[in-house]
Amino acid sequence: MIIPVAHRAGQTQEYYFSVKLAEVRKLLAAGHDVINMGIGNPDMMPSDNTIQTLFQSAQQASAHGYQPYKGTPGLRTAIARYYDHTYQVSLDPETEILPLMGSKEGITHLSLTFLNEGDEVLVPELGYPAYRAVSKMIGATVNEYPLLETQGWQPDWEAMEGLVSDRTKIIWLNYPHMPTGAPATRKLFEKAVRFAHDHRILLCHDNPYSLILNKKPPISLLAIDGAREVAIELNSLSKSHNMAGWRVGWMAAAKPYVDAVLSIKSNVDSGMFKPVMDAAAEALTNSDRWHRERNAVYEGRLEAAMAFLDALDCTYADDQEGMFFWAKLPESVPSADALVDDLLYNKHIFIAPGFIFGPKGNRYIRLSLCMPKERILEAVQRISK
Ligand SMILES: Cc1ncc(COP(=O)(O)O)c(C=O)c1O
Repeated sequence: MIIPVAHRAGQTQEYYFSVKLAEVRKLLAAGHDVINMGIGNPDMMPSDNTIQTLFQSAQQASAHGYQPYKGTPGLRTAIARYYDHTYQVSLDPETEILPLMGSKEGITHLSLTFLNEGDEVLVPELGYPAYRAVSKMIGATVNEYPLLETQGWQPDWEAMEGLVSDRTKIIWLNYPHMPTGAPATRKLFEKAVRFAHDHRILLCHDNPYSLILNKKPPISLLAIDGAREVAIELNSLSKSHNMAGWRVGWMAAAKPYVDAVLSIKSNVDSGMFKPVMDAAAEALTNSDRWHRERNAVYEGRLEAAMAFLDALDCTYADDQEGMFFWAKLPESVPSADALVDDLLYNKHIFIAPGFIFGPKGNRYIRLSLCMPKERILEAVQRISK
């Protein structure tokens, strides 16, 4: 006998990477040296001070109990200082910041907090799959808004007007954009804030990539006039501080939004481990030089990634930001699926097909730069053979 699952579990498919990485593990177990450029899992270390702080904090007897639901004051203060230094945005650490176990859980908490069944959510037609998946789990209707490839994957605001109804509650935005690498611009954020005001929609901006391979100073959506009335920003240490497995992120927003999310979240988990929060606070003080050095490594990898894409005859935009690189397949390749499997099983190279971010990605691939440059160059060699 099998007890049936809830409708929402039946609706949601297992995450692509969860399935595909099992195939990668099988190849590895069979002794194949797979070069994994699929998932965005930083391979570099957090700063030394971060690790030291984790260790020192874990030695304190007081570190092992439950912690405040809204994180330690030390972590919230560190986030506020970081926002001030990085984005010139001033946040009240007491009321405008809510630490999260990664921004992914924030997507769920925001959705649980603001969506009723039958509400509508606008998500980019290419984007992080969790926006869609979580909205559907909650029984909301997902409307995908077009991105204009010819205009650097910016939202098609005109088309978006036609997608809004009086049930539209949330619009998801993410710039620098994953997977296309489209940069964030002040103009785009201003447009988004105006749109959210005009239509009384909550604008949820997901901002984990602003410090990676950014060509200009990073921007927060909360720097835009009028944003605090209608917007929430998610951010994370996963990519910018090489701490993906630590599960540290946060939401930044006006007090009523933070309070509302906390009322849901405090019924779901019981806070984070204090040494993780102490070390995260330390990580947030990493120097500008630390960030520059990390980006210099990514620059080198990017060059190798371009050589890889050139060898596959792919085309790509060269102004991409973030930790991934997005490229279009040549006509000669039948589909992204075919190419991914060909590379995985014949060359032992794993890359992500564009369609996992939405059907518009059918003829695209995404490379992660979380792999030493030498390994990417080895991948170039393998495909050149
Ligand atoms: C656009 C985007 N948002 C959110 C996340 C989740 O990040 P976190 O590790 O903070 O949960 C990712 C992870 O890949 C992402 O690409």
